[in-house]
Amino acid sequence: MQNILGIETSCDETAVAVYSRQRGLLAHQIYSQVALHAEYGGVVPELASRDHVRKLAPLIAAALAEAGLSRADGIAYTRGPGLLGALLVGGAVARGLGMAWQVPVLGVHHMEGHLLSPLLEPDAPAFPFVALLVSGGHTLLVAVEGVGRYRQLGTTLDDAVGEAFDKTAKLLGLGYPGGPALARLAEDGAPGRFVFPRPMLDRPGLDFSFSGLKTAVALAVRDAGPADHADIARGFEEAVTETLAVKCRRALQETGYARLVVAGGVGANRRLREQLDAAATAHDFRVYFPRHAFCTDNGAMIAHVGALRLPGDARAACAPDPMAVARW
Ligand code: KG4
Ligand code: ZN
Repeated sequence: MQNILGIETSCDETAVAVYSRQRGLLAHQIYSQVALHAEYGGVVPELASRDHVRKLAPLIAAALAEAGLSRADGIAYTRGPGLLGALLVGGAVARGLGMAWQVPVLGVHHMEGHLLSPLLEPDAPAFPFVALLVSGGHTLLVAVEGVGRYRQLGTTLDDAVGEAFDKTAKLLGLGYPGGPALARLAEDGAPGRFVFPRPMLDRPGLDFSFSGLKTAVALAVRDAGPADHADIARGFEEAVTETLAVKCRRALQETGYARLVVAGGVGANRRLREQLDAAATAHDFRVYFPRHAFCTDNGAMIAHVGALRLPGDARAACAPDPMAVARW
């Protein structure tokens, strides 16, 4: 079983990829629903499901054509977490195709896809490493010893970091999707004019909390004018990225590992990359970022986990499935 079709429909991207055990990634197709949801200021679950229904079959055809295949030998789809209706579309199509092609079908944990996405790159990290998973729904520090061997080191006590970006973007009157829009605005902002709290840095441990920071920004926005928004965005981004960088360093110290991988949508943030690159140089560890397209939701990461976990690859043969064991 060599060529695995991966299907990702957990939120507002319809994404399909083909990953070959011999040749790596053969095809990678994505359709973003951003334009569909923009006028509502956020993802509308029912519209997302309906659009996945429309777009998934043509994208699968396009991915198979790109890979030069008429079918795959196994299918992996995102089983969760995500929007229920959206997940059901991917799951139903995967099972239907699996029956038609008579090939095995595997449900994959979305966060395991993100977690292992740096392994898609040519300069892939060796195990063990610390992973920082930062998306719209998760903020996790995980010790990764191998496929399926994950130990949660820290998580958020309230908002996920991507959620904090999105909510703060809303406070600043920016449209959906908020995270990238806030990051763009922050580029024009002066650093140091607004200094917001660095949540939980004064306490030991590896957990995060972002709701207090959001409140601090809300108060600043209330007292400021539109001309200050870029500086506020910059102050918020500095506070978040510095907090993440400090906790990553603590996680590396605690585990004794020398490699850090960053995954999930917020991993696309330029300032976060700069902060972590600087910390890596100063403290002698290596940091790995997947390319931008593999940071945000994509099919390649799901096909890749399928290639590791479906029968035929010894690396995950005995590894526990995080869908069954993790609290995430
Ligand atoms: O991993 P992802 O595509 O979807 C989830 O699984 O949640 O992550 C989406 C999150 C959103 O909250 C989005 O605002 C944030 O990642 N994001 C960013 C940037 N690009 C995406 N946040 C900050 N800076 C960015 N450049
Ligand atoms: Zn994601």
